[in-house]
Amino acid sequence: MSDTINVLMLGDVIGTPGMEQLIMKLSDLKKKEKIDFTIANGENSDDGFGITEQLIHNFTTYGVDVITSGNHIWANKDAPDLLSHYDMLLRPANYPDSAGKGYCIREVKGVSIGVVNLIGRFGMTPVDCPFQTLGRLLRNELKNCRIVIVDFHAESNAEKQALGFDFDGKISLLVGTHTHVQTADEQILPKGTGYITDLGMCGGFDSVIGMKKEIIIQKATTQMSIPFEPSSENCHLQGITAEIDTETKVCKAIKRIYL
Ligand SMILES: [Fe+2]
Ligand SMILES: [Fe+2]
Repeated sequence: MSDTINVLMLGDVIGTPGMEQLIMKLSDLKKKEKIDFTIANGENSDDGFGITEQLIHNFTTYGVDVITSGNHIWANKDAPDLLSHYDMLLRPANYPDSAGKGYCIREVKGVSIGVVNLIGRFGMTPVDCPFQTLGRLLRNELKNCRIVIVDFHAESNAEKQALGFDFDGKISLLVGTHTHVQTADEQILPKGTGYITDLGMCGGFDSVIGMKKEIIIQKATTQMSIPFEPSSENCHLQGITAEIDTETKVCKAIKRIYL
């Protein structure tokens, strides 16, 4: 019998102000939207860069099932140990020979869900091909998963759209992260994959992509090396909810969240 799984995905969580958004809003949001499975991008949760063991526990306590990441996952020196120890903490799957894994499998309402984290190559460091990596995972490690959800952490809108169309109908949901700017293009692609180019972020919006804007401007205008600090002004939580049919694997609805 056809059933649905309601998924919540949150954009990059920026430092303590971002984590406070989860404390304040996540529980009510999950109840209101009848969420079965929650994924958040945690690459900026430790004061803007990386993640700690304490933060992994906090994400879990606040109601996050899987933490994805991206280029900033390596900011803390214990990242390899954390990635090896916590299989719900993902790094991009197309990093060559890195610690940890780029996917995990969870059972929700009796349905096997594969979560994949990938990173882009346009305007970013050279890594393995995200298209080939996802294809390989679908043919091998994730071949028995009913539903596959992908967080594609990438700078380029074009690269995200290309991956979305290439895997349309082969995965249930593809969301972009990394730019910290939510896009207004949430849609269901022709063959049934739910898609948005970027989820946005959780943190201070009186900022440059979550960081105190005065510091970013000073760095941009002087080229001096100045440590960034997360903004705590005008805080919001952004992401999407998606309704996935467990029989057809098709995304039936995708909705932007901006609280
Ligand atoms: Fe980020
Ligand atoms: Fe990033």
